[in-house]
Amino acid sequence: MATLRITTILLLLLLISFSTAAYVSGDNDDTKAVYQVLQGYDFPVGIIPKGATGYKLDNSTGKFSLYLNSSCSFSIDSYKLKYMSTITGVIKKDKLSSLSGIKVKVLILWLSISEVIRDDDELDFSVGIASADFSVNNFEESPTCGCGFDCVNANEKKLINRNGFVSSS
Ligand SMILES: *[C@@H]1O[C@H](CO)[C@@H](O)[C@H](O)[C@H]1NC(C)=O
Ligand SMILES: *[C@@H]1O[C@H](CO)[C@@H](O)[C@H](O)[C@H]1NC(C)=O
Repeated sequence: MATLRITTILLLLLLISFSTAAYVSGDNDDTKAVYQVLQGYDFPVGIIPKGATGYKLDNSTGKFSLYLNSSCSFSIDSYKLKYMSTITGVIKKDKLSSLSGIKVKVLILWLSISEVIRDDDELDFSVGIASADFSVNNFEESPTCGCGFDCVNANEKKLINRNGFVSSS
């Protein structure tokens, strides 16, 4: 019964988001709300890429679903990340757990990021068997699908690196 109800609610939400998308190409208040909720739990907005369209959150348990306008991939440093258009998990202050819908490519495997824990100024992304720490400062802004955190400066950076490489030889 409970499962049936949840399925119905999900279907309704899907219908609502589809019909909304058909008429308005972005409800700003709702879009911002997703990132504000993250900040309310002490997470920087940059752990979720641009393009969030809405969310569902059970206040008492922290169980949430978050919706992006499309699936999304980009790289941070040497890591390739992939976000599905629906991300689910449990959010508590400084801790995201039971995550589903975010993957990172490690060597040749796509692994699910299952947990993100904020420890002071560090974010710890865990795939269960391994984890990686990043400074919170990296996530002040949401990455853009495709080019991640460095869309505008991507070409400039390459040039600077090339010059540095030349001058050091
Ligand atoms: C999703 O949203 C982002 C940011 O608002 C926008 O740049 C992008 O074009 C959108 N993508 C689709 C497929 O609508
Ligand atoms: C969720 O909890 C916060 C306080 O913890 C409260 O201010 C807010 O109204 C609650 N929202 C809902 C939808 O229950």
